[in-house]
This record gives sequence, C-alpha cells and structure tokens, in this order.
Amino acid sequence: MDLKERLKKIELEAARALTDITDLEQLEALRVEFLGKKGRITEVLRQMGKLSAEERPQIGQAANFLKERLHNIIENKKTEIEQEVRVRKMEEERIDVTLPGNKPRLGHRHPLTRISDQVKELFIGLGFTIAEGPEIENEYNNFEALNVPEHHPARDLQDTFYLDYNYLLRSQTSTVQIRTMAQKKPPIRIIAPGRVYRSDELDASHTPMFHQVEGLVIDRGISFSDLKGTIELVVRAIYGQERLFRFRPSYFPFTEPSAEVDISCIVCAGKGCRLCSESGWLEILGAGMVHPNVLEMAGIDFKQYSGFAFGMGLDRIAMLKYGINDIRLLFENDQRFLRQF
Ligand code: DAH
Repeated sequence: MDLKERLKKIELEAARALTDITDLEQLEALRVEFLGKKGRITEVLRQMGKLSAEERPQIGQAANFLKERLHNIIENKKTEIEQEVRVRKMEEERIDVTLPGNKPRLGHRHPLTRISDQVKELFIGLGFTIAEGPEIENEYNNFEALNVPEHHPARDLQDTFYLDYNYLLRSQTSTVQIRTMAQKKPPIRIIAPGRVYRSDELDASHTPMFHQVEGLVIDRGISFSDLKGTIELVVRAIYGQERLFRFRPSYFPFTEPSAEVDISCIVCAGKGCRLCSESGWLEILGAGMVHPNVLEMAGIDFKQYSGFAFGMGLDRIAMLKYGINDIRLLFENDQRFLRQF
C-alpha cells in the first residue's frame, strides 16, 4: 500500500473511531493514537525518505492537511463533549426551589433556666431584688443562724455534704437570708435562686444537687396574710389561675408558724393518682413567719420588725409544669430531651 492510500485509510479509520467517542478520555486517547508523537500520521511522515523527490512534497502536504483536519475535528468534538457534560451536570444539580428547606437548629434555654427566669421576673415585678450567696458555706449560715444549733435534730433532716468541720455545700438557699440580713437593714424583699446539695441517693426524684428559690420579706407590720397573698400570686402565675392550693401546718426551725403549701394534683386534679400518692395534693414549697430567734441573731429588732420566708424547689416546678417524670433528665443533657423546650 502506498503512503497516499495509507493516509486515506487513516482518515477513514479516524472518522469511524470518532463516531463512537462519548467522553474526553476516549477523545484524548484517539488524539494520541493519530496525532501523537508516535501516532499514525507521524509514522507515515517518517517513511517519506523512501519516496521520490516529486512524491515527497505531495505526500507531505497531504499528511499535514490530514493532521490539521483531524486536529480541528477533535477540537470540535472536544467542545461538543464539554458542552454535553455541562448540560448534564446542570440537569443533575438543578435546584428545586419549591422543596421545603432545612430549618437551622436553634439553641434552647434549659427548662430550669426558663423556670428560673420566669420566677425571677415575677418577683422583680413585685418589687423584690435578686440576692446571691456562695455554694460553699459555713455551718453558721447554713444551720446555726437559721435556728438550728448543733445537735439539733433538724440537722439530720438534710443530709449535708461536709467539706471539713466548718465548711459544707449549702443544703438550702435559706443561707442567703442570713447573708442578706447581715448586709442590709429592713425593709428587705429578696429572692435567692441557686444550687443546693444533699447527699441523697440518686433516683427519679432525688439528685445530690438541685435548685431552690428562697424568698425573704422583712418590714414593719408584715403578717401571715402578706405571705398568703404573695404565695397565691406565685401559684397562680406558675401553675395557672384554676389551680387550687392550700396551706398546711408544718415545722421548720427558722419559721414560726410554719406551713407547707400544696397545689391540687396536676395529673388527677384532686381525685387521687400515683403522682400525688392518692392524696390529690402536691407539696410545692415551705414557708412561714421568720422566727424571732433568727431575727435576733441577725441583729434585727423583732419587736419592731417581722417577716416571712419561703423556699421552693425549682426542679420540682419544672417537673410539674412540663410533666417531667424523672429529675435526672434535667442534668443529663440529652439533646432529645432538651430540644423539646
Ligand atoms: N429551707 C427549706 C428546705 O430546704 C425550705 C424552706 C422552708 C425555706 C420554709 C424557707 C422557709 O425560707 O420559710 O426544705
């Protein structure tokens, strides 16, 4: 076969091969096969030495024409494939703007923070200020000044974490009553929310750390009816207008008289169920008139001044309000739980 025919054959084969090509890789392989340094056209050009002097320019020209033609065809094909790829990609990546979007996840306030904020707001509205005290306390503020002297049986009521003979983790926020009275003269109207600690066994209703809000009001002429009115407002604001509540005589060393406050059961509304141990009532706080001994130890003249105090568990409020049946859920930071609030 002479070189002219070989060029023809190359052209035909290239044209046939091109029709089967669908991607850029195949196209590049084809370019290398025909136009590359060791490609089939180069191969023809290499053999030109064997040709006569007049044939040589003819074949040379024909080979170069073919080279150029093939080059153009391949370039066009390349553009065509690239265009196809782009169209396909756009098709695949098409965005359906009518689809619902992904809602960004927002943070949540912890249920205890929500309750605490609500309680604070309520009392600030009543003219109270927020007081604070440390979680590491001395025995005096946690017991002694609250009318619980050493060996008093009430010290056993609360299983206290002692740090050494004098310091402990406060077992009640009542300590802030003492700290406040040491700093301020009456009239006093404070609440003190915070953490308290007791060495209780961990179960669905006990954790060694929980939260209380203490309240203290001291002024001239404060009576039990002031306490009742305040508690009524609080119960209504937190548990709703319809909730029944009652004062039940009780005992606390730092108040006299003392009472506990119950609300009608949030599950059975008084009929009796498991949550309220069939009584129809749930205890929500302790309160009373500040004991004269407490006022006296704080240097407040109990003949001129009187006051009331109360203490309630924030965790308990959160549990009753949100229907949480295990206090441990409040401290485990399980996102599935927390996301609900
Ligand atoms: N400190 C009490 C407790 O932890 C709660 C309490 C009861 C606080 C009566 C008071 C009060 O201020 O007057 O059980």
